[in-house]
Amino acid sequence: MDPATSRPAVVIDNGTGYTKLGFAGNVEPSFIVPTVVAVNESFVNQTRATTKSSNWLAQHSAGVMADLDFFIGEEALARSKSSSNTYNLTYPIKKGQVNNWDAMERFWQQCIFDYLRCDPEDHYFLLTESPMTAPESREYTGEIMFETFNVPGLYIAVQPVLALAAGYTTSKCEMTGVIVDIGDGATHVVPVAEGYVIGSSIKSIPIAGKDVTLFIQQLMRERGEHVPPEDSFEVAQKVKEMYCYTCSDIVKEFNKHDKEPGKYIKHWRGTKPKTGALYSCDVGYERFLGPEVFFNPEMYNSDFTTPLPDVIDKCIQSAPIDTRRALYKNIVLSGGSTMFKDFHRRLQRDLKKIVDARVLASDARLGGNVKAQPVDVNVVSHPIQKYAVWFGGSVLASTPEFFAACHTKAEYEEYGASICRTNPVFKGMY
Ligand SMILES: Nc1ncnc2c1ncn2[C@@H]1O[C@H](COP(=O)(O)OP(=O)(O)OP(=O)(O)O)[C@@H](O)[C@H]1O
Ligand SMILES: [Mg+2]
Repeated sequence: MDPATSRPAVVIDNGTGYTKLGFAGNVEPSFIVPTVVAVNESFVNQTRATTKSSNWLAQHSAGVMADLDFFIGEEALARSKSSSNTYNLTYPIKKGQVNNWDAMERFWQQCIFDYLRCDPEDHYFLLTESPMTAPESREYTGEIMFETFNVPGLYIAVQPVLALAAGYTTSKCEMTGVIVDIGDGATHVVPVAEGYVIGSSIKSIPIAGKDVTLFIQQLMRERGEHVPPEDSFEVAQKVKEMYCYTCSDIVKEFNKHDKEPGKYIKHWRGTKPKTGALYSCDVGYERFLGPEVFFNPEMYNSDFTTPLPDVIDKCIQSAPIDTRRALYKNIVLSGGSTMFKDFHRRLQRDLKKIVDARVLASDARLGGNVKAQPVDVNVVSHPIQKYAVWFGGSVLASTPEFFAACHTKAEYEEYGASICRTNPVFKGMY
């Protein structure tokens, strides 16, 4: 027996904003690391300069130094802010897709050796990908994992399927449902029937957590709040995570704020990065206007105007008819940007309205003799939804079936990277 199968698998959920990493069997990821790499630019520039002069040795050593002198996560962000900054920031994932494989490899290297502090040769790996990722991307991931890190086994799972596998809806793991995954850079609505993604019905929305932050930043700027410009994105992000909530009706909410500002206005206090001077600003309407972009997207983006509940309804209506009732019954939230207070309530109410209106219209068409069955709409919310993808990975990678579903190093060597294109659904997923 492969000794690596008796050790816990490494589970890494790579997100546009944050990477969640840890060992299978745990309830929470051990680390949540901003998905960013800082490479010392002076070495990179040296490599470029020496490329022209073709001084092989200098070029080689500059390359080696660039390989050594880099940071990831918070440390990368801190380096890029220091006064003697020579580091260049790279975000390897854009809108859920890897777009810089060099940076991604460096990022994984530190995740494994500096954060998890494990030998990748000793553990099977479960990695995640956004839905609609190209199969070539799985091949690149396979090449890096098997060749650079020498992992004994690898499985690449689709993020929303893992969120569903988190199985917190009932004591029995329910593998039919719709996952609404709203992270930092991507929002996907993904129907799954018995563990299989219904690919043709997936819907994507061009608004996610980063857009909410940008919208709040813009609102605070327009209201004339005195936030130092170099700090304003970070402040907007913190304001969003700490103070935003979903309201039931924006007109009523404006009135509530105007009547009792003392009750609703929050104060943000910060330090100017350049001078060290203290400053403070008010947080008002943006508290509820931020999350409202999912329900009234035209406020933020004039090119995209379909509210999230309508997108979910369209997604389910395009799925096979015999799955629809089960899908409406199990709409599961996943990702950091579903954490706004009362988000699930508003989503459930608005979606129920759409569905009830359709049932009524069909009753009217049938002429009163026959009545359509009401449809159960259930949006499931849970404190663990922020890490649902990682947690689902942790649960699945603890089952014996997981090891059998992985591609092994021996298979990779025999058949090549193309085996990584498909990753079978396995027992435990349904
Ligand atoms: N309590 C909170 N309330 C609202 N938003 C939050 C909260 N906590 C985190 N977020 C936001 O969630 C986003 C990160 O979520 P998540 O880790 O699911 O995304 P990701 O996996 O990095 O991105 P993606 O899945 O889009 O590739 C960020 O925009 C962050 O600001
Ligand atoms: Mg994610």
